[in-house]
Amino acid sequence: MSAKKPDLESFWMPFTANRRYKADPRIFFESAAGMHYTAADGRRILDGTAGLWCVAAGHCRESIAEAVARQLRTLDFAPAFQAGHPLPFALAGRIAALAPEGLDQVFFTNSGSEAVDSAMKIALAYHRARGNGQKRRFIGRERAYHGMNFGGISVGGIVRNRRQFALMLPDVDHLPHTHDLQKMAFSRGEPDWGAHLADVLLRLIETHDASTIAAVIVEPVAGATGVLVPPKGYLRRLREICSKHDILLIFDEVVTGFGRLGSPFAAQYSAVVPDMITFAKAVTNATVPLGGVIASRPVFDAIADAADGIELFHGYTYSGHPVACAAAQATLDIYQNERLFDRVRELAPRWESALHSLAGEPHVVDIRNIGLLGAVELAPDAKKGAGARGMAVQSGCFTHNVFVRPVGDSIVLSPPYIIEPGQIDEIVAALRAAIRAI
Ligand SMILES: Cc1ncc(COP(=O)(O)O)c(C=O)c1O
Repeated sequence: MSAKKPDLESFWMPFTANRRYKADPRIFFESAAGMHYTAADGRRILDGTAGLWCVAAGHCRESIAEAVARQLRTLDFAPAFQAGHPLPFALAGRIAALAPEGLDQVFFTNSGSEAVDSAMKIALAYHRARGNGQKRRFIGRERAYHGMNFGGISVGGIVRNRRQFALMLPDVDHLPHTHDLQKMAFSRGEPDWGAHLADVLLRLIETHDASTIAAVIVEPVAGATGVLVPPKGYLRRLREICSKHDILLIFDEVVTGFGRLGSPFAAQYSAVVPDMITFAKAVTNATVPLGGVIASRPVFDAIADAADGIELFHGYTYSGHPVACAAAQATLDIYQNERLFDRVRELAPRWESALHSLAGEPHVVDIRNIGLLGAVELAPDAKKGAGARGMAVQSGCFTHNVFVRPVGDSIVLSPPYIIEPGQIDEIVAALRAAIRAI
């Protein structure tokens, strides 16, 4: 911390042990540019995580700042309920053009959590519009993170995110997660083992009957629980089963959307087209909150055809906020002009081999990668408990001027797409030193 320590009392920090952090605020950033933060003690810290998976084009991009400033002086806000302004229309068209063919209806939200809840509502409205109002069950997956609203934590598969809150949506079931160290440790990219886990959906259909199931929601790559890469063929199998049983398939692409795997969406990477995609984060390079749902035309048409007036009683004050839209346009310009999605594809093999060079280091039980995502999983410390090694590695990396994030004992990695090959090596060298030191 710098000499002029700010008052830390009143900000109730999210997902943080507030008292512990405030007693020793080791990680504190003052500014950022490109691939680096500047820490409170003046050190430049290489960002191995693009913030929270979101600063994909690197920090403090001038063209986004200019677009936001210009927009604030032109049209700071206008409602989108029964009224229009050009920005969300233009942005929706641009996002639809990036999405898989057939997904061209974009509903804007302010966050990934809201995007998930919106997609769930759209799924319910879709079935109801077609006279199937009894299709109201959602199938999520163990170890899924779908944000922190009630819909998202209900379909999510992280018990810690639920147990304080008691109330959940009813009628939710879960697929098993796809991670098995015995079968797939140290796979490079998509594991060969595990496609058959999608067939558990058939068992859930037998248990509940397809006539009660509205949608299956999965992250194509489960990010927040440790970068769990889908087994080869798994997503395709889910698609087949959903199509056969009139169940909508929702890909939560809040992490994977906008280039993280080297294609606009994981849907294109896996060549599997869902009925809806949720997005947020990288769409504005995390500068201004913005999320959304991209729905297929048949989903929209079914809901609109059944309506006499407003077809979806849902929306947010800031849906399609002009400033967020301006930030997104400037961000998409950067992705396009700098060919950053191609860059992710080009860097991916280098990223993969650099990360996998950590195999054989102490306590490392798995290394996972896909696109510019990765994770290094450590065996938990039997004495200090789960998560202790993850925290120690984060701390060690920070001492070596690299920021990484622990999720339990997995270190998750998702650098900005502008990362240079030498900076990949810096991240791996810091990890190696930190792992050896614990
Ligand atoms: C897959 C996924 N869905 C939803 C969310 C929630 O997004 P937000 O934090 O913007 O509400 C996240 C956040 O990390 C996420 O990873």
